[in-house]
Amino acid sequence: MKPTIFITRKLPDELVAPLKEKFTVRMWDSEEVAVTKAVLREEIAQVDALWTMLTDAIDRDMLESATHLKVISNLAVGFNNIDLEAAKEKGIIVTNTPDVLTETTADLAVGLLLATARRFNSAEKDLRQGGWLSWTPMGFTGMDIHGTTVGIIGMGRIGEAVARRAKGFNIRVLYHNRNRKLETEEKYDVEYVELDDLLKQADHVVILVPFTAETKGMIGERELSLMKKTATLISVSRGGIVDEVALYDALKNETIFAAGLDVFETEPIPLRHPLLTLPNVTAVPHIGSASVQTRRTMMKLNVEAITDVLEGREPKNQVN
Ligand code: DGY
Repeated sequence: MKPTIFITRKLPDELVAPLKEKFTVRMWDSEEVAVTKAVLREEIAQVDALWTMLTDAIDRDMLESATHLKVISNLAVGFNNIDLEAAKEKGIIVTNTPDVLTETTADLAVGLLLATARRFNSAEKDLRQGGWLSWTPMGFTGMDIHGTTVGIIGMGRIGEAVARRAKGFNIRVLYHNRNRKLETEEKYDVEYVELDDLLKQADHVVILVPFTAETKGMIGERELSLMKKTATLISVSRGGIVDEVALYDALKNETIFAAGLDVFETEPIPLRHPLLTLPNVTAVPHIGSASVQTRRTMMKLNVEAITDVLEGREPKNQVN
């Protein structure tokens, strides 16, 4: 009998086709709506491979039902939605999609920084609502990004790609990371500082750390209070790293200038969320890696990993 795969979201047929040639493939039939927990649990009990999205919570309890599941391939570089330990205990390989989304995500981070600091969002909204009555000397003035100091929290591959882009804007780059990275410092001309120093010195702070037990709530009231009144905060890795209540207060009281958010504690962010009432918030719906080319390349990595495991080879990008 052919091995069976369950795909938790409707994906483009041509990208799923190579799997269908070799395996039995079942796919959740909606692109918009996530698979239900009940269906996911049922499928986990039956399949050899699972192709997951970052919206699927694959926790210990969910994995209980797995009897012959061999691989979970996640369509994301982040894998905080999967209990790696529980998977390992059951001998299930987990893979992700690193590298291929680095440049696209760095583009988004820099774009979001520009949009936020220069207030694209509120300026465009005003224009569309007929608020552009004349050019005004100080109308829609934001903060420069060229020639400033940017602090990157989390100097991984995406952090390095942001640093490279920042150099084109004549930006001084500070970074904070779990481990100091001497090679990166030399290669990209970036300076390591303690987190508090980064927050105090940076004109713009870009958060790129993964979501873990250590980074959860890492940027709270105390950290935000260290930032400059003119500073911008950009959050593009995972929600939950920035305390949203503290962020709301800082933005509302204008103790920081603005925030650009691609990720949220709850996704999709509820429309009534207080952050969405603030004009100094630029919010986009978790689109860091969302270019046609990159998403397709990420999917190809998932196909490769699933095929490798099911055919008895070691997959690339195993994370557990
Ligand atoms: C990832 O791959 O982890 C990104 O957040 C997806 O856009």
